[in-house]
Amino acid sequence: MRKKIVAGNWKMNLDLTEGAELVNEIFKGLPVLSEDKQVVIAPPYLHLTQTAAQLTGIIDVQLAAQNCHSEASGAYTGEVSASMLKSAEVAYVIIGHSERREYFKEDNAMLAKKVNQVLSNDMKVIFCCGEPLAIRDAGTQNDHVGTQIREGLFHLPVAQLTNVVIAYEPIWAIGTGRTATSAQAQEMHAHIRGVVGGQYGSEAAANMTILYGGSCKPSNAAELFACPDVDGGLIGGASLKASDFLGIVEAMADL
Ligand code: 13P
Repeated sequence: MRKKIVAGNWKMNLDLTEGAELVNEIFKGLPVLSEDKQVVIAPPYLHLTQTAAQLTGIIDVQLAAQNCHSEASGAYTGEVSASMLKSAEVAYVIIGHSERREYFKEDNAMLAKKVNQVLSNDMKVIFCCGEPLAIRDAGTQNDHVGTQIREGLFHLPVAQLTNVVIAYEPIWAIGTGRTATSAQAQEMHAHIRGVVGGQYGSEAAANMTILYGGSCKPSNAAELFACPDVDGGLIGGASLKASDFLGIVEAMADL
């Protein structure tokens, strides 16, 4: 059975003191989760070793990085490799967030290389996809997202898919307060599962965790997570406040 996950992507927010406090607050309110449910925290690189130390012995919460470089090592000033992240006890790496695609010009070919770096260092990938508003308005979002998934992931053998989570994040819903309706989310998640199934078969598709991201908050999480193909959320703004993040975790715990 596929896992349900609520993952907090802090993006470029919080200093070390604020980050440690937020993790402590989250621990205090964390509900008991069944084995098929998991919380993931993705702080900025600088926080990772501190957060890893805080997470010692807490099996319900896993550590994620927000990015890694596409090469294994070398003269790439300012960058961080997948093997460095592995040595900091990182379990997941977010790859292909729309902010990285847009501001850092990361294309699907580069993202496929990053996916390989993460998997070859025995971590899991949270692979982001999602369409801009113009594509949604033109009605071609399914093709757009299908291409992102094909070009970013379909070079992988089926055995590697168990180490991949997909996050559907419509760009028009990120940080805008405009959430996709549960019907829009369900439709796209079912499409994504179908695309995965077309390449890898129905069992691999059924086992794939597909998260929704984009203005997810305590007030809409339960409805979104109740959709049959929505397996949790990738949370931005609401992951920066313990009470909001915990409200979303509760929505998953109640499923
Ligand atoms: P918001 O929850 O702030 O819309 O961000 C979503 C996101 O981009 C998570 O990766």
